[in-house]
Amino acid sequence: MIDRVEEGMSYKIKIFNILKTEACGKPLLAFVRTYGCQQNVSDSEKIKNMLLHMGYNFTDKKEEADFILFNTCSVREHAEERVFGNLGELKALKKQKPRLIIALCGCMMEQGDIKEKIKKSFPFVNLIFGTNALNRFPELVYETISQKKPIFCDKTNDNRKIEELQSYRENKIKAFLPVMYGCDNFCSYCIVPYVRGREKSRELRDILKETKTLVNYGYKEITLLGQNVNSYGKNLKQPVDFSRLLRDVTNFEGDYWVRFMTSHPKDISLELIDEIANNDKICKHLHIPFQAGSNRVLDKMNRRYTREKYLSMIENVKKRMKNVFLTSDVIVGFPGETYDDFKQTLSLIKAVRFSSLFTFIYSKRPGTLACSMTDPVPHEEKTQWLAELLDVQRKISSQIYSDLVGTKVKVLIEDENKKRGYFVARTSGNLIVRIEGEQGMIGEFCEVKIIKCQNCVLEGAIINR
Ligand code: SAH
Ligand code: SF4
Ligand code: F3S
Repeated sequence: MIDRVEEGMSYKIKIFNILKTEACGKPLLAFVRTYGCQQNVSDSEKIKNMLLHMGYNFTDKKEEADFILFNTCSVREHAEERVFGNLGELKALKKQKPRLIIALCGCMMEQGDIKEKIKKSFPFVNLIFGTNALNRFPELVYETISQKKPIFCDKTNDNRKIEELQSYRENKIKAFLPVMYGCDNFCSYCIVPYVRGREKSRELRDILKETKTLVNYGYKEITLLGQNVNSYGKNLKQPVDFSRLLRDVTNFEGDYWVRFMTSHPKDISLELIDEIANNDKICKHLHIPFQAGSNRVLDKMNRRYTREKYLSMIENVKKRMKNVFLTSDVIVGFPGETYDDFKQTLSLIKAVRFSSLFTFIYSKRPGTLACSMTDPVPHEEKTQWLAELLDVQRKISSQIYSDLVGTKVKVLIEDENKKRGYFVARTSGNLIVRIEGEQGMIGEFCEVKIIKCQNCVLEGAIINR
């Protein structure tokens, strides 16, 4: 078998040579837009690394690009509409610059009907490939350039490992590190298992090697990624669990901390909670989507836990970690959900007290089980429920943030703030703090005292560097 990495490299060199001749000495520029979740951000980092090897630099202005790539998301209808809208805007650009290459990848491209719609309505697109063909990218670009015709890749991955691909990370302080791909859960509303395929964990040794490299490069925050990180390692030849993974990735010498997302409530064990509680390098923030507060709705969603189980798991988390911050995802207006069901979502939110929530109105996803369920509640009514929920949550967040005034917290300084002389820092619990500082502080951990809170914006003063 040909070495896959070497094969990819040879395509990159061939492309580099064609493009160099066509560009006549001008630098070639690529514009990459990523929609959707961190998994897609991480995929785009791999694609960007391949583009760099083909001879492209990057631009954030699509007007000056020679290559435009949209890495798409299909989790909700709105996400798809944004892609179609942005794609329509490229028509005129392509007319002006016939040599411009327009490529689409990501979750939307794993859906046959969407691909057909693009072929029909956006015939100027040059290349389409899905999440499972990521490492065929160099050869697909080569085919697009050399055959001078649109390429629609239907073939999937054929055993090549996406995880072997290197990433180009623009951020030098915080890194995403995928530990698993795909999802086996089939929540009835969700498209992800269909567009990302079955759950597959990376080998522990590969994850540790990458962690070590990131720590040696000076990364301060590593976020382990997966649709359901708690079931990490179950299907490996030598099964490993997520607690072991957390223990091992935090075992390197160096000043860094580790986050992870997303956690599925059904797979959070007491052992895992203890590992998080007792490990100083693991951030005290848990994102645990509950989706709904009513057992009837949770059952129809195929979430495989009850409201009582969720609340008792949260109780265990709080008992073992006094300083933990919790966030979650919630869907409002699942098919058949009544106002009484919704009130149970409200009461769950009040019981748990999340520091913040990601809230979504149910969106019909063709091909999922929920898509064929009757959905009698009108959209306007769901919007009212959502407003009611946001009102409750705003008060809770505001209280949690205000209670921090006067306390001391460790933060990582991430970036400059819009206001000169100020910086954006993040706590272990994933709250943003604005601090006054000086040049060269980005990437430092320090201790701050929270001095002010206005509309959930925290301000802190450095007390220890
Ligand atoms: N794997 C993660 C979440 C992936 S999608 C998990 O299971 O927690 C991110 C969020 O989008 C989900 O948690 C859910 O709240 C929301 N979501 C997914 N499908 C949706 C749909 N059809 N309509 C509305 N929200 C949806
Ligand atoms: Fe979707 Fe459920 Fe999988 Fe999350 S766990 S990606 S919500 S099917
Ligand atoms: Fe969207 Fe795909 Fe992520 S559907 S949420 S980009 S896994």
